Amino acid sequence: MGFRRFLSTISAIFFFFLIFVVWFSNLVDSSHDNLSSTPIINVTKHLFFHDFSSNNPRTSLDVSLLGSATISSEKGCIQIPDPKVENDLKHLAGRAIYASPIRLFDPVTRTPASFETTFSFQFQNPSKISNSDPLMASNLSVPDGGSGLTFIIVPDEFTVGRPGAWLGMLNDVCDEDYKAVGVEFDARQNPEFGDPNDNHVGINLGSIVSTTAINASDMGIYLKDGLIHRAWISYDGHKNYIDIYLGQDSIERPSKPAYSGNLDLSPYLNEYMFIGFSASTGNHTQIHNILSWNFTSVSQANLRVPSTETCESKIRVENREKLEASHKKTPTSFLIFLAVVLLCLVIFLNLYFNGKRKEKNKDESMVLTEKKQRPRPPNKPRKFTRTEISSATRCFGELQILCSDNRSVTYRTTMLNGCNTAVKRFSSQFLTSHGLDKRRMHKEIKAISKIRHPNLVPIRGWCFDHQETIVVYDYIPNGSLDKWLFGFGVLPWTRRFRVVKDVAESLSYLHSKELAHKNVKTSSVFLDVSFRAVLGDFGFLLSSVESTRFEALVSQKVDIFEFGVFVLEVVSGRSRNSKPGEMDLLDLAWALHVGDEKVKLVDRNMGLVLNPDQAIRVLEVGLLCTLNDNKGRPNMEQVVEYLNVEKPIPELPQSRPVSLFPYSSTTGLCSGYSCASFK
Ligand SMILES: *[C@@H]1O[C@H](CO)[C@@H](O)[C@H](O)[C@H]1NC(C)=O
Ligand SMILES: *[C@@H]1O[C@H](CO)[C@@H](O)[C@H](O)[C@H]1NC(C)=O
Repeated sequence: MGFRRFLSTISAIFFFFLIFVVWFSNLVDSSHDNLSSTPIINVTKHLFFHDFSSNNPRTSLDVSLLGSATISSEKGCIQIPDPKVENDLKHLAGRAIYASPIRLFDPVTRTPASFETTFSFQFQNPSKISNSDPLMASNLSVPDGGSGLTFIIVPDEFTVGRPGAWLGMLNDVCDEDYKAVGVEFDARQNPEFGDPNDNHVGINLGSIVSTTAINASDMGIYLKDGLIHRAWISYDGHKNYIDIYLGQDSIERPSKPAYSGNLDLSPYLNEYMFIGFSASTGNHTQIHNILSWNFTSVSQANLRVPSTETCESKIRVENREKLEASHKKTPTSFLIFLAVVLLCLVIFLNLYFNGKRKEKNKDESMVLTEKKQRPRPPNKPRKFTRTEISSATRCFGELQILCSDNRSVTYRTTMLNGCNTAVKRFSSQFLTSHGLDKRRMHKEIKAISKIRHPNLVPIRGWCFDHQETIVVYDYIPNGSLDKWLFGFGVLPWTRRFRVVKDVAESLSYLHSKELAHKNVKTSSVFLDVSFRAVLGDFGFLLSSVESTRFEALVSQKVDIFEFGVFVLEVVSGRSRNSKPGEMDLLDLAWALHVGDEKVKLVDRNMGLVLNPDQAIRVLEVGLLCTLNDNKGRPNMEQVVEYLNVEKPIPELPQSRPVSLFPYSSTTGLCSGYSCASFK
């Protein structure tokens, strides 16, 4: 009996001990989990431009130019404003922005990133640039001076601010959410903004009025002297401290900062921001050159807790168990030793049975993560997952809808990386009911997304599966042309003419690549911040019957016809969808042509058009495009030549051709396939 009791006591002790060991090992485990599941890592970003020559392919990929800005290949620098395009360099604003967003704020700890940047810059007086002697340029006594240059940190990659004293930093459309931070190098005194003199450095926090202004003359720097200067800015996000140095380019960084002091940037930062340069001119002009740029940032981030389901975490737990098992040497009692041995046995058995499967999983998970982390050049169109699209559009929420029609719904979204996009979701019901070949359509979307032209809206990516056809475009902030043309405001003739030329050039380029737009109308044309027209909202739709080449050819003919009607709309300010009781726009245009009264079609709201001959010429080009194909409809290349007055416009027939191509926009794409005019 004594022995039995002894045995049962031992088993009871053993049992409780086992429970204790298991509980304790769990405790160790979970405390480990809490510590190691949220490691803090440094997110660093480094970018370096020794110069901005166009030989460097990264320049054009990584730098977005907005407004009046260019990259001068001969000088190897960014120029704001663009001295080539504009005849008059007054009242212009432009930006050069690094194309990918940069993490500058940790929302968890609410700490700004630390960063350092240095860049060399030069202000040139355009009237003196032609003077070939560089010494002369530097010896100028007092050049006119434009407004100045700003190193900016901004929330998006598409806004350009107002010209003049605003340095292109802010404009009237920027709402209260628009947070911009800038360090300005201002060469004009604007007393209304509290500028101390016409040669100062200022820190601007969400406002054009500097919170701090520094007299650059104190450092012996004269911003307008035509020399190349260099600025060094370093910011410590933990200490909230900024240092700004200013000196000559070729000389080392001065030992004494131009300014150093406390500065809390956190109220002005989103997690992801865009960085770059902004400049403007006002009544006086000057070209702002940026010659080189170096930027490094470090921000801290908590790694997300991996889901317990993932293979990696399983592997980690398992390794830890192995480790602990080997460490547990129990000094006091034989029982404890026994328990540990048993426990080890259980663990090893467990390991033995799970070993192979885990190893397999591990391999798979390695492959997966490697695939995911392969670097991708910024801005390259890619496939989006349905989850990405769905979360960006808040589950295709109604509040996000920009516009919709029977074919599709378009949503305005912000992607995880901070880029603003327009997501177009085609109605699968529409595609099926019209017998459209989805697979060919997807091929076409990919083909068009490879095309880049300044007057075509870039495609960021797509998302296809058995039920969805979704295209992701860049979001163009100024809206579509129809709103400008048929809305309340009046678009001046110079802008309208530029829009017609821009669209003609984009179509000509598209056709040269054996592609077609298939949806040319005023609502497919968007105006960017500098009122340049960009053509977007491609039709993509393909019937499953015709061969690709034939289809492309027919669609191009349709594009040209639609472009003709588009031109009539732009010149007349009237929509092709005539109001009840109104004469059809195309009929009206031809009737006026026959009566030699085309000038009556020019939109009267524009008042006195400075260049009525130009307006008539554009009208004639529009009418030419609506001719039957075998009766002299030009191709887009010719249209561009006519618009640029490189070739005389052929004579229009004196009467309206009999069978005009149907162009009803309500029947949509299908008119494109009846191709009466193609025969
Ligand atoms: C992160 O950067 C800080 C300095 O900014 C440094 O002190 C720290 O050691 C870095 N941490 C890691 C994990 O590299
Ligand atoms: C700026 O500094 C220069 C030279 O040190 C001085 O002559 C000038 O008065 C200063 N201007 C202002 C507004 O303080």
